[in-house]
Amino acid sequence: MKFVTVVGSINIDLTSYLDRWPKVGETIAVRETVSSLGGKGANQAVAAARLGARTAFVGAIGTDGFAQQAAMELRREGVGALLQEVPDAATGLAFIDVGPDGGNMIRLAGGANLKLGPSDIQRQKEVLLDAQVVLLQNEIGLEASLQAARLARSGGALVIMDPAPAPSPAWPRDLLADFDILTPNAHEAAGLLGWEPATLDEGREAARQLAPCCARGAIITMGGTGVAWALDGEVEALPAPKVKTIDTVAAGDCFNGALARRLSLGESYRDAIAFAMRAAALATTRKGAAASLPRLDELEAPLKSLSA
Ligand code: RIB
Repeated sequence: MKFVTVVGSINIDLTSYLDRWPKVGETIAVRETVSSLGGKGANQAVAAARLGARTAFVGAIGTDGFAQQAAMELRREGVGALLQEVPDAATGLAFIDVGPDGGNMIRLAGGANLKLGPSDIQRQKEVLLDAQVVLLQNEIGLEASLQAARLARSGGALVIMDPAPAPSPAWPRDLLADFDILTPNAHEAAGLLGWEPATLDEGREAARQLAPCCARGAIITMGGTGVAWALDGEVEALPAPKVKTIDTVAAGDCFNGALARRLSLGESYRDAIAFAMRAAALATTRKGAAASLPRLDELEAPLKSLSA
């Protein structure tokens, strides 16, 4: 069975679309506000499921009204949701502002996500031991992620860590040895390297420098510039498809979910990365987090029709 398991965060996103960015101390009216499923972990799980993977999600919710909305929206996507209800905790909330150029600012209230501990992970060990690919991010406690990585790798799964949002303080490099593949964006890579790659050549160099920290290597996502990687000795890069971007929220989550799906099918790194880039590019042409994630049939049409 080609099985993807995601261990991580689940939030409700309260997303506002702005005509311009306010100044500090200023009040402005927003164009529209939407409340919907988010969280980097839940988004990755929805991305993998929409692209055909049998997907499990391990995470935590609170006991407030948002908990039911989050659980219901995740299950409606066909994701096997193993959700720990944390008494007296609030469900994770993200307050997202999307500016006129599609860029965003996110303020995060981690809530129940931060209560997920190694013993909760241990209780769900079957979905880690049975998985082909396991996806992690940095919106739950590091101990829980490390426990998930160790269990999953003991069962033979490929473990992908997306270190987003950027760890603060930065993780020591030797900690990365518990993961197979690291998928930072350029900014997150800078936290580990001390310099930020800006071009695909620099991306290749950044990936080459980070690769020895993980078992298989590193993939650097560089937004509209493209993706560079150094994996099992293969050092390459691909430019991003050109699309009309309106909202970049969850593009990285989409990339990771799509990558996990295609690697679970046994695709080469290059083909899986190219596919994940197309999926992420399409997601940026739509509003929302989980809501923007594409389905398989949408990726079969050429993205050219979306070119700017
Ligand atoms: O990557 C986008 C996600 O980051 C949002 O859905 C929000 O919940 C935050 O976790």
